[in-house]
Parts: sequence; C-alpha cells; structure tokens
Amino acid sequence: MGKTHFIRKIAFSILLASSLHHVDAQESRSPDSPAWPRETESQKNQRMEWWRDARFGMFIHWGLYSAAARHEWVQNREKMNGEEYRKYFEIFNPDLYDPIAWAKKARQAGMKYVVITTKHHEGFCLWDSKYTEFKATKTPAGKDLLKPLVNALRAEGIKVGFYYSLIDWNHPHFTIDRNHPLREEKNVASLNQQRDMKKYQQYLKDQVTELLTQFGKIDELFFDYSYPGVNGKGRDDWDSEGLLKLVRKLQPGIIVNDRLDLSETSWGWDYKTPEQFMPASWPSISGKNIPWETCQTFSGSWGYNRDEYSWKSEKQLIAMLIETVSKGGNLLLNVGPTARGLFEEKADERLTAIGNWMKLNNRSIYGCTQAPAIFAKPDNCLLTYNPVTKRLYIHVLSWPFKSLHLKDYKGKFKYAQLLNDGSEIKFKSDIKPGSHTTETTGENDVILELPVRSPEVEIPVIELILN
Ligand code: GLC
Repeated sequence: MGKTHFIRKIAFSILLASSLHHVDAQESRSPDSPAWPRETESQKNQRMEWWRDARFGMFIHWGLYSAAARHEWVQNREKMNGEEYRKYFEIFNPDLYDPIAWAKKARQAGMKYVVITTKHHEGFCLWDSKYTEFKATKTPAGKDLLKPLVNALRAEGIKVGFYYSLIDWNHPHFTIDRNHPLREEKNVASLNQQRDMKKYQQYLKDQVTELLTQFGKIDELFFDYSYPGVNGKGRDDWDSEGLLKLVRKLQPGIIVNDRLDLSETSWGWDYKTPEQFMPASWPSISGKNIPWETCQTFSGSWGYNRDEYSWKSEKQLIAMLIETVSKGGNLLLNVGPTARGLFEEKADERLTAIGNWMKLNNRSIYGCTQAPAIFAKPDNCLLTYNPVTKRLYIHVLSWPFKSLHLKDYKGKFKYAQLLNDGSEIKFKSDIKPGSHTTETTGENDVILELPVRSPEVEIPVIELILN
C-alpha cells in the first residue's frame, strides 16, 4: 500500500469514526433528557458488553422472610406489624451459611453473575448499614452476611449484582400505601402525618452510597420497584432521577434495571425486566430491539417457600435459558436459600442438571443471540447464533427420527456437528423421491442425517459452521 493511500485511509477512518460518534451523541440527546446523562449509544453498548455475552445469572432472595418460609411478601399478605414481624429478626441465625459454596454452585451451573437481595421490601439489610439497626449484625447471626458473599463471588470470577428494594416496610418514614402491611389500620392518615418521604429519600441515597462504595466494583443494580398511581409510589417518591444520578457517579460502569419509574425516558434504565414471563419475541421500542433480562423462579416464590410444589423440571429450565437467548435476552434464575443458609436439594439438583448441560453446550449460550432472519426455525427447535464465530445453534427440543429438515439452508453452512461430543452430522440436499421416500425437498432445502438415538443430554444442540 502506498504511503499517501495509507494516510488517506487512516484520515477517512478517523472522519468516519467521528461522524458516527456525532450521530450517536445526537441520538442519545432526546428532548426528555436532563443534562447529566452524557453517554453515547456506542458507549452504552460497550458498557453492557460483558452482560450481553454472559446471558445467564443467578438471583438470590434471602432475608427474614426465609424463616417464615411462605413467600417473601409474607409480611404484606398477613398484614403483620413491625412488632409481629420482629420474631423473625430475633431468630435469624443462618448457621449453615457458606458463601463460598453458593458462589461455586453458581459457577458450576454456568452462571456468570449473581444478584443478591441486599434489602427486600421488609427492610432488613444483609450488610452492616450504619443507617439502621434492622440488619444482620444485630440478629443472632451477628455478622455482615453480604461482604463474604461478594468476596466469594469475585474469587470464582463471578460478577456482582445488588438487588435493592425501593420499598421498605420497616422504615418509620416510609408512608403507608396500598402495598404496606399496615394498609388496613384504622388511623393510616394520621400515621402518615408523622412520616416524611423526604427523609426516606435520604435514607435510600445513604444506603445506596454504602452499597456502591464499600464493596468494590458492583456490576449490576436491580432496584425494586415502582407502582405509581392511586396510593402507590413512583419516581417523585424515590427521587428516581437524583438516585440514578448518584449511582452513575459512584459506579459509572454499573448496569441498572428499569424499575425506577423512568421507563419512558431514554436515560433512566439500561435493560427491561420481564418477570416470570417469556416474551413472544425480542422486546422492542419503536421497532428497535432493547436489552432485556427475564427473572424467573424455580417454583413461583422468590424467597424460600417450604410448601410450594410447582417446581419447573430440569428440561423446562434449560429450554427457558435457550429460549431467552434465542430472543436476545438474559436469564436471571432465582434461588431462595433457607433460613439456615442452605440451597434446597431441589434447587441443587436443578442447578447441577443445568451445569451438566452447560458444560457441554455453553457455546450455544455465551456470546449468542437471536439468529438472523434468513435462518428458518425447524419444527420443535430453538435457534441461537454467535455473531463473532458465525455459528448457528439448533436446539432440538424433541428428537426427530433421522431427518431434520432445514428449509432454505442450502449453501449457507459448510459443516454440521453435535455440540455435546463434536461428532460430525452428514447432510444432503436435492433428494429425489425413490422407492423408500415420498418427498422431494425444495431445491434449497437440506436434510441433516441424525442418529436414531438422541444424544444423552437434556436438550441436544447441533452446531452449524456457516459459510
Ligand atoms: C417483585 C416482587 C418481589 C421480587 C421481585 C423479583 O417485584 O415484589 O418479591 O423480589 O419482583 O423481580
């Protein structure tokens, strides 16, 4: 390459990069935007890269409600006042808590990040907050339960996410609203007169500051949640903008969910959080696909629920992970440890099954996303795609008899193999009807010649190396 040509080429790339940057910056400066969110779209993409590639995380719901063992909303459902609820505070002593074991279980299941409830709606804090006495250090547990988990996660190479409840049924200045355990008391109006949400707003900021300054780098923040409208709470109650501004200042790299009641802004959230719900397709706004993470339970309850039997099967959970990735999303799968600090056996079994599947098949999950539209989804299958390695993954939910018909795939791939053992799958096209076959495939169709017996994995995956 000649010298002038080379210089011209460099100059052109710089020009191109700066004009792209300009477009980006303009795009993010929508009219609803305050002055402080200064990030361009490509910077946001970069910030979220690890999260997009990770695809799979663990949610952990653990607090005083684990002792009641009948749903984390037990205080609300049974309308317990603070005094009645205090029995759980006085007994809470997770003597079998082993944060290193928790972190290892997450890693072995193939999860790349963990989001833990630092405080749920009950208001109880797992860390030694200096702004409340309602915390683990004051229970019989007698110690900070959050820090050792954060350390254990980092040691396993797992990213750290904090769930923090905006709602707080213990705080004396949190006004009694339609979700509050005291909502049916006779004197709600007069009780509320003594409560000052401005003071609670400060408490939110003080606690978030502790969480984001005393535990090193925090990768994800899950605020929960807003319910604006009659007798509810939303952005003005939390001072959502002020809170988010503080978060961005303290941890510029952090990824924040969408429950601050700022959903209609372009700057008030990083990703959407469909809960116990599988979207029909990749969620979008004005035709543009958006980042999303679905949070799901094993059994319906988030906190440990002794008497719940609606547990999903291992296959269902693996299929859920695949389906989420096939629509460009992340799965945050919840565990509700017991009051003694253990994962239930049913949870362990499922995590182990997912881990066994992931060990052989994680190439179809990490770094993967929705397949390009030119690849039709065969019957009973889910597709994912790695845009960097240019490989397409066909997850076969129900193993067919010998032939997997791929419509219009001819010329689109050069090699096919089972992912679990790397064994070749032969393929053919232009099939003519013969004495033993009835059908002619379309001109551009391909038949994969599968073994009769399904491979010994929960959901077999076929890897196509694309042209
Ligand atoms: C909810 C519930 C809650 C749970 C959470 C998980 O909004 O209030 O109990 O922690 O969703 O996303």
